[in-house]
Amino acid sequence: MAMFSLTRTTTPTSDAARLAALADPGFGRYYVDHMAIIDYQAGDGWQEPRIVPMSEWALHPAAAVLHYGQEIFEGLKAYRRDDDSVWLFRPERNAARFVQSAKRMGMAVLPEELFLASVNELVELERDWVPVGENEQSLYLRPFMIASEPYLGVREANTYRFAVIATPAGPYYSEPVKLWITPNYTRAAPGGTGTAKCGGNYAASLVATQEAAANGCGQVLWTDGAEHKWVEECGTMNIMFVTDDGQLLTPSLGSILAGVTRESILALAAEHGLEAVERPISVDEVLDGVESGRIPEVFACGTAAVVTPITGFNSPDRGVQTVADGTPGTKTREIRQHLVDIQFGRAEDKFGWTRKV
Ligand code: COI
Repeated sequence: MAMFSLTRTTTPTSDAARLAALADPGFGRYYVDHMAIIDYQAGDGWQEPRIVPMSEWALHPAAAVLHYGQEIFEGLKAYRRDDDSVWLFRPERNAARFVQSAKRMGMAVLPEELFLASVNELVELERDWVPVGENEQSLYLRPFMIASEPYLGVREANTYRFAVIATPAGPYYSEPVKLWITPNYTRAAPGGTGTAKCGGNYAASLVATQEAAANGCGQVLWTDGAEHKWVEECGTMNIMFVTDDGQLLTPSLGSILAGVTRESILALAAEHGLEAVERPISVDEVLDGVESGRIPEVFACGTAAVVTPITGFNSPDRGVQTVADGTPGTKTREIRQHLVDIQFGRAEDKFGWTRKV
């Protein structure tokens, strides 16, 4: 039984235009024809869930999101398999994180079953937009919530809008990435919003990404706010290090984002002969390890980025350093393939992560 009412668009994308979009989707360039929406009103709770044609919204210029940034989001993907079935990967982890993000930002909490139904019903309706899995293409889903109440005082809003939009997606990074270790900027601090998936974290990252580009790097390696000593995450992704004695090292949770891909890769590590270790990791340990060969592989991971090899670092103290021979490492490639194969149904899903739409 559908939870969402459906108003169909009167101007659907033609088959030819959709196929042209799916042939080279990019990321966020094209959008499916419908979106899921649920509005929230304090006192009344969540209103009727509906799927409506994709269109612009009218938003009052005083809407709280436009002034104080009360906004959260998620990212997950739908994958088309060889038998044409369409699957989601661990959507309940995104639903649970969305609850945590809402709590941190003082927003209304969306029940997880509504989150899951919104994603499921939108994908079901728009299944023609799920690319065939060539080049690991998928349909990227973007659930998000904004504070919609027009009110200029600084307090949590009384009205919210939750919505899900979707965009066909190719690889987010088309090549390996180098990381700039910024001495100037910090992504998160204890007690801050680092663990919430809120737009403000990403807005605050942009100037550091400009600095990274000016220093020949595609992304930033974030370090802790107090000492710039401890590695946190990179750009829009978590970070992992393979050591020469068989560990898969990643920073402990605390002020970083609890990535679904991160969690999944840690669970797969043992199958690749690696011991998963979550602990504080210093910048010096990383750069010494890269220099000495103790860390022969580094990669970043996230829903959009999947597993992206990190081939080098640049920092004011130590200059440019290359990881091993500057090409993606064996474990990095194996782990990436394993994860993608589970998502596309080509490898056994031992952990029961995939959900058929
Ligand atoms: C994701 O991997 O889903 C993200 O949220 C990264 C995004 C900001 C591109």
